[in-house]
Amino acid sequence: MTGFGRMPRKEDARFVRGRGTFVDDVRLPGMLHSAVLRSPYAHARITSIDTTAAEAHPKVRAVLTGADLEERGLAWMPTLSHDRQAVLATDKVRYQGQEVAFVVAEDRYSARDALALIDVDYEPLDPVVDARTALDADVPVIRDDLEGKRDNHIFDWEAGDASATDLLFESADVVVAQDMLYPRVHPAPLETCGVVADHDAVTGKLTVWATSQAPHAHRTLLALVTGIAEHRIRVISPDVGGGFGNKVPIYPAYVCAVVGSMVTGAPVKWVEDRSENLMTTAFARDYHMRGELASTSDGTMLALRVRVLADHGAFNCTAQPSKYPAGFFHVVTGSYDLRAAYCAVTGVFTNKAPGGVAYACSFRIAEASFLIERLVDLLAGELGVDPAELRFRNLLTSEQFPYVCATGWEYDSGDYPKALQLALDTVGYTELRAEQERRRADDEYLGIGISFFTEAVGAGPRKHMDIVGFGMADGAELRLHPTGKAVLRISVQTQGQGHETTFAQIVAHELGIHTDDVEVVHGDTDNTPFGLGTYGSRSTPVSGAATSVAAQRVREKARLIASALLEVDPDDLEWTPGRWSVRGAPDSGASLKEIARAAHGDVDLPDGVDGHLDGSCVYNPPNLTFPYGAYICVVEVDPGTGQVKVRRFVAVDDCGVRINPSIVEGQIHGGLADGIGMALMELMAFDTDGNCLGGSFMDYLVPTAVDVPPWELAELVTPSPHHPLGAKGIGECATVGSPAAVVNAVMDALAPLGVRHADMPLTPAAVWCAIQGRPLRA
Ligand code: CDP
Repeated sequence: MTGFGRMPRKEDARFVRGRGTFVDDVRLPGMLHSAVLRSPYAHARITSIDTTAAEAHPKVRAVLTGADLEERGLAWMPTLSHDRQAVLATDKVRYQGQEVAFVVAEDRYSARDALALIDVDYEPLDPVVDARTALDADVPVIRDDLEGKRDNHIFDWEAGDASATDLLFESADVVVAQDMLYPRVHPAPLETCGVVADHDAVTGKLTVWATSQAPHAHRTLLALVTGIAEHRIRVISPDVGGGFGNKVPIYPAYVCAVVGSMVTGAPVKWVEDRSENLMTTAFARDYHMRGELASTSDGTMLALRVRVLADHGAFNCTAQPSKYPAGFFHVVTGSYDLRAAYCAVTGVFTNKAPGGVAYACSFRIAEASFLIERLVDLLAGELGVDPAELRFRNLLTSEQFPYVCATGWEYDSGDYPKALQLALDTVGYTELRAEQERRRADDEYLGIGISFFTEAVGAGPRKHMDIVGFGMADGAELRLHPTGKAVLRISVQTQGQGHETTFAQIVAHELGIHTDDVEVVHGDTDNTPFGLGTYGSRSTPVSGAATSVAAQRVREKARLIASALLEVDPDDLEWTPGRWSVRGAPDSGASLKEIARAAHGDVDLPDGVDGHLDGSCVYNPPNLTFPYGAYICVVEVDPGTGQVKVRRFVAVDDCGVRINPSIVEGQIHGGLADGIGMALMELMAFDTDGNCLGGSFMDYLVPTAVDVPPWELAELVTPSPHHPLGAKGIGECATVGSPAAVVNAVMDALAPLGVRHADMPLTPAAVWCAIQGRPLRA
């Protein structure tokens, strides 16, 4: 393969043979193992910790508590959202599962055994579990570690034009309003989080193998947290078994493993188990939303008003570009041409695990997209208009691009009505509506749900976006060696997305060489350029663009070297894939392989041209890319049991130019399954004492092959006008777009029973309660 198109993933050669290397596969000489003692309480004061018995365990090499870390100034660490998080608790525990002590031992079993020998006295405190009561006057203050803090408030943030929005609501013929919860869910990657930390006391060098979506950002953060100079830290992220946002933050045990290595003088491995991963690392969503949509009586949507209460858990660890505490939630007008919009978000602390990561979405767009798509369906119901027809009346048209939405985002390109029409034709919408009508007469509940979404991916332009002060540009370095073989070094980090294949395809496309001749190096800060990593579907929009520009620079340098080699003016040369030749004399030319050889040889190079054949780029995207899609879900609901069966799912996606259509389709398949999971089964629940009820895959349900239908995909290709390849991101589109299609389908099925809305997940119990006219939860 010498360019774009379907080809098997290069990395699969090792994965299908079981030859991948994940963090838990790393085994270093003399390596020790570790375990974390966690709080059984959601909120409690620590009155004493006795580690004597654990230290006496014959295989234990070190026990760390918050007091030990305090001596090193490491009991607290900064978060990605300008808060601080306890590494090991010193004063209080603030959520169930919080880190209290860390044991380093000769083997994993001994480390675990020794946890039981640590004696902690707790004085239980009332927990704040429901975000809706977090700001009440009489509730306990969770973050009394923050000077002067007297409540559980984190931030207020707003976007849009409140007064213009209010005016349109006053003049509107119809207003629909709905409270909705986008529940707390978890990214739940198959590989849990972990590190191996190896501190060399002689050289002062720290090497950390980490399950990391952002190795360079983690190195910088580790330098800031530990005080070790950044150039002495090397982060290696080997094969990663899924990230979905879960592997963006630094977790307390990473810091403990570093200290454990310093204290013992040996490498220390920490790998969490499934329950630890589910209960304590980075949740997503947890948005209590109230949306209102104003319209004329003929279904012209006018304005949107939204209020959100955001539950951020015990520490504000949400990972968003600094200027946007609610991420990109204000892309909440979605795919519609509204005259005004206003959204206000309030963040609060509760006694739950911290986080708020963008689980397979670009910084809170999943919540925004769900909200607007539910409101559009509610408006369709109110007006008695078909939901597809209502969307056609309000979707942006292709002539409106570039389009600036009511909250200020500039959408780059698209043909929305065409995508919706394609989805309707693919599913056979008219026939399905007729079938629905017939079956309703027999008390059978078929539902058809539409969702139209716009994602905003590729964060992002440095003037608008940074993470803890670091601009979101990414680098690529490309070198052609003397034999013409290429090595590409990139700052982003694949976690299963197939970058080793698609980034080789980008180089092959630009240079006309074979993908087999391009090696992609990533995941090692000593060997790759700086960049902020892979999340929010930013790899292709940012690092893919950097790769394309770097390859174009190599091509231009090759032209100059070819001109010296062929003794012609560079302007007399023309490019055909893989070769510069003399215009009008195609036989007189040089292949890239020959040029690479010459670049390392004794040819007299033109003035200003260094030897060797290489090029690099740090890409600062001018804008985000805006992929979009039209999804239609068909469900059957059993009113007796509340069971929902997803019968069909049609997904039309436009992510611009597709580098590898097979990989793109794989990304969509995974995202659609995610969406069905969130819509129907995933929920990180808590009891009133703050006990987490989602600590295993028996309790926190994720979809399996039997829960999903055969996907029916179709595509449009509208290139992004500002991306060098015309490509937009795709990784997370389907996770963003699909939950609303499923919920709209279930609500559509239940409309004859008077059901208007029910919150996700639509488990059989939730659906059954909705049919009975009462919510499952208070
Ligand atoms: O940042 P992340 O890799 O998660 O997301 P992405 O940039 O959307 O890319 C996911 C995978 O799909 C990568 O292997 C991309 O190169 C590939 N892709 C593609 O082949 N064509 C596109 N237009 C977008 C992504």
